[in-house]
Amino acid sequence: MLLLTKEDIKKVFSMKEAIEADKQAFSMYSQGKSTVPLRVNINVPKYQGQTLYMPAYVDDLDSGGVKIVSVFPGNIEKGMTSVQATMVLVNEETGEVCSILDGTYLTQLRTGAAQGAATDILARKDSKVGALFGTGGQAATQLEAMLTARNLERVYVFDINKKRAAEFAAKMQSELACYGAEIVANEDVEEVLPLADVITAVTTSKRPVFDGRLVKEGAHVNGVGAYTPDMQELDEYIVKRADRVYVDSKEAVLAEAGDFIIPMKKGIIDRDRINGELGEVIAGIVPGRQSEKEITLFKTVGIAVQDVVTAHKIYKKALEQGVGRQIQF
Ligand SMILES: NC(=O)c1ccc[n+]([C@@H]2O[C@H](COP(=O)([O-])OP(=O)(O)OC[C@H]3O[C@@H](n4cnc5c(N)ncnc54)[C@H](O)[C@@H]3O)[C@@H](O)[C@H]2O)c1
Repeated sequence: MLLLTKEDIKKVFSMKEAIEADKQAFSMYSQGKSTVPLRVNINVPKYQGQTLYMPAYVDDLDSGGVKIVSVFPGNIEKGMTSVQATMVLVNEETGEVCSILDGTYLTQLRTGAAQGAATDILARKDSKVGALFGTGGQAATQLEAMLTARNLERVYVFDINKKRAAEFAAKMQSELACYGAEIVANEDVEEVLPLADVITAVTTSKRPVFDGRLVKEGAHVNGVGAYTPDMQELDEYIVKRADRVYVDSKEAVLAEAGDFIIPMKKGIIDRDRINGELGEVIAGIVPGRQSEKEITLFKTVGIAVQDVVTAHKIYKKALEQGVGRQIQF
């Protein structure tokens, strides 16, 4: 069994590869080529946390597995990430566990890559300005994915914790210098949001994090954070106004994402608001952006097939390159 840490994963797998892995995962998911039961979420009210068990099986890759991921929002104040995870990868030719991976980094990588895949497929090619809401544990890979998908010249970052936003911008300016973009912590959403071509929200907020009326024609919006029925990062205006709306999984988004469930309960939208799954666009079943003027919107809650496909590809590359630590029970 191969143990793979964050450093091992970074050595063998890039954001670009992760975006391609997620595209394949979404495409297989939407074509019914994977088995992905709805995840089991267990609440831990004592510590305001939740532990999620996410299984999946991908027939084409003879691969399966389960990710155990816990979301404890209070962790950030203890200097820990609020989302931590471990991935157990199973070789489905024999049923044996072949690898255990740092699921926290895997989650950050594949979640950034999901947004990167959507941005790559849906955003205007000439996008120059980005906006990122939320500068916590998921934010670095979200930013890297935006920069990988489009040649952005500047990205504005926002957080209700202004100090965190400023520190994040400074750190990313140096760590992601190779992309040549300016990363700017900003407090004036009203002034700069109308400039943004690609907007990503990755927060733990239960209230919309920006006013959808500020989104310009032709922009692409990603909602990554809200994953329970009472969480809502995207306001009702933009969810109704967007010309085309895509999700990672219709079933999961309609069961879990307050961004859609709340306006649906109010009768503002219905389930037909969703044009299709990103995997259906990738597979050529549903059209994507049709004009430079359209506002496109992508909502992801995360599906286990992303973890299995990404972990499988990382495992194969690590084996080839002799990276990681082999252990036996
Ligand atoms: N879609 C997926 O596949 C997926 C995967 C992993 C995590 N997530 C979700 O993404 C969210 C963010 O995860 P994280 O690990 O970065 O969390 P985190 O707690 O580390 O960071 C969240 C950040 O959002 C900021 N924030 C909260 N409300 C805000 C607001 N109104 N405006 C601006 N910033 C605000 C917080 O100050 C914090 O910096 C969580 O809800 C998590 O469950 C989604």
